[in-house]
Amino acid sequence: MNSKELREKYINFFISKGHKRIPSASVVPENDPTVLFTTAGMHPLVPYLLGEKHPEGARLTSVQKCVRTGDIEDVGDSTHNTFFEMLGNWSLGDYFKEESIRWSFEFLTDSKYLGIDPKRLKVTVFEGDEDAPKDEESIKIWQECFASLGIDAQVWDGKNNEEAKIFPLPKDDNWWGPAGITGPCGPDTEIFIDLGKSTNYDTCPNGGDCKPGCHCGRYVEIWNNVFMQYNKDAEGKFEPLSQQNVDTGMGLERTLAMLNGFDNIYESDVLKPIVDKVKELSGNKDEKSARIVADHIRTSVFMISDGVVPSNLERGYILRRLIRRAIRSARTLLMPEKFLPTLVDVIMGIYGEEYPELLQNKNKIVEELEKEDEKFGKTLENGIRELKKLYPIGGIDPENLPKGMEISGNILRIDGAVVFRFYETYGFPIELTQEIMKDWGVAFDEQTMQEAREAMKRHQELSRTASAGMFKGGLADSSIETTRLHTAAHLLLQALRLVLGDHVFQKGSNITAERLRFDFSHPDKMTEGERKKVEAIVNEQIRKALPITCEEMNLEDAKRLGAMGVFESKYGEKVKVYVMGDEEKGIFSKEICGGPHVENTSELGHFRIKKEESSSAGVRRIKAVLE
Ligand code: SER
Repeated sequence: MNSKELREKYINFFISKGHKRIPSASVVPENDPTVLFTTAGMHPLVPYLLGEKHPEGARLTSVQKCVRTGDIEDVGDSTHNTFFEMLGNWSLGDYFKEESIRWSFEFLTDSKYLGIDPKRLKVTVFEGDEDAPKDEESIKIWQECFASLGIDAQVWDGKNNEEAKIFPLPKDDNWWGPAGITGPCGPDTEIFIDLGKSTNYDTCPNGGDCKPGCHCGRYVEIWNNVFMQYNKDAEGKFEPLSQQNVDTGMGLERTLAMLNGFDNIYESDVLKPIVDKVKELSGNKDEKSARIVADHIRTSVFMISDGVVPSNLERGYILRRLIRRAIRSARTLLMPEKFLPTLVDVIMGIYGEEYPELLQNKNKIVEELEKEDEKFGKTLENGIRELKKLYPIGGIDPENLPKGMEISGNILRIDGAVVFRFYETYGFPIELTQEIMKDWGVAFDEQTMQEAREAMKRHQELSRTASAGMFKGGLADSSIETTRLHTAAHLLLQALRLVLGDHVFQKGSNITAERLRFDFSHPDKMTEGERKKVEAIVNEQIRKALPITCEEMNLEDAKRLGAMGVFESKYGEKVKVYVMGDEEKGIFSKEICGGPHVENTSELGHFRIKKEESSSAGVRRIKAVLE
């Protein structure tokens, strides 16, 4: 079965069960500042899982583009990749465990659909803890499903690993979400295929005593059905949701590999042509490096298509790391120069029909990849040469360590600033330097990496300040006028959210002494009435003479407080939270911001929107003044 057939079968099956297909959202989450990329099909559905009505109804299905880079260093083995498609179905307060499990079982085992031998299936369920009880209901439903095909599905008792079908496991295994810091989550039941004892059995970390959830590769998880009935709040508590939801996700590449009897995902029709092209161009050398190139360039293509560009910051830095990692592997394979457009063509051939945005953005994709290749390609060899001088392949004489270097076993301690300098001088993302050293047999110790990350962070702060016009928070100067307008921007954001809805987030701002320019997410032109309402709300807060206070706290606490802001900072970092209002007059807005601000909203005068226009797709721009 190829990818097209699997997507169609899945979607049509759920349409036949009353679902509506929704399109894949961008890999850049639109309204969730707590994550960098869309990691699952549920991500764009968070507001609806929390109770908002979805325009397409309460049963939805989709094929979602997902990016997960947490296991980037494992890419190249049989199951890891950084981009994948997730087939999903959702109940928004409609059906629950019964239908969800029965339909999964039907889709997997019925010969009209995937026709998998039920003997090869094993499932896990939540064993229960202080937050939620043991999932007896799912156990019972699974037993009935298996019994319908003549299988007596035993529950795992701690010993019967081979015979058992249903394994109750703790939260680590059988709880999903929230995707970010807070949000919908719940117990899940995961479905595994047993590939049989032969697969990596001798390297099983549990000495062959394995069961679903073991990492030896015998059991491959293909589908996860989450019963989302809780919301994890900012204090870490699990509150019951007003509705019981189902959120399921099936990995396309893994399922394809399993259905076709491949022993790795790179044989599937969405990856094989890319790997084959890399091998053809490089003369068929190292399989793992070819897979890294294929995977990373595929992910980069999807990221760029959805608007990410390589940079020093956050998403852009992850993209940069992927491209540079791919380029390094391409160099070790001695790929010809200018290989990128050829690979992009192959990727377009695989995905162009399913994701036409790739074709529309092709020129930009090739341009960004080539720009990055040019920037990095020039310095790569020099960087490697310098790195070898610092620490030659094959090791260094422990008696003759350069100053500041310590080595114990294969753990190397150097000044983290040196690692960072390789980024500044040769463009090596700090993690890449670490990986190259690992290939040479040594690992940086944690302190070295910590220092390198800190140096990187300082560098990122500077870039952010520079791109904001050399002044904090988008200010072109800090005269009293701009300070007033900056304060007004906070009131404006909150007023927009009150009038237009919670989908409104700040997308940028630029302030001169004369006016405030403010970009925000909203799909439509604002009506005259909406403009007036927003103005009125801002002016009301000015009239109320709200005190403005600022408090420094770490980012987690700021989020817990519910402060708005661009959560680009790292955990543990101190941020300033500006609060407009107090208990007596009511708190109107809380926002993470660099400042500066006036002390009381009464200093602002009268607020007027001069213009409201489109800025880019889904983003509106307001120009406003204080009079
Ligand atoms: N959100 C769940 C997962 O990612 C099910 O889709 O596994």
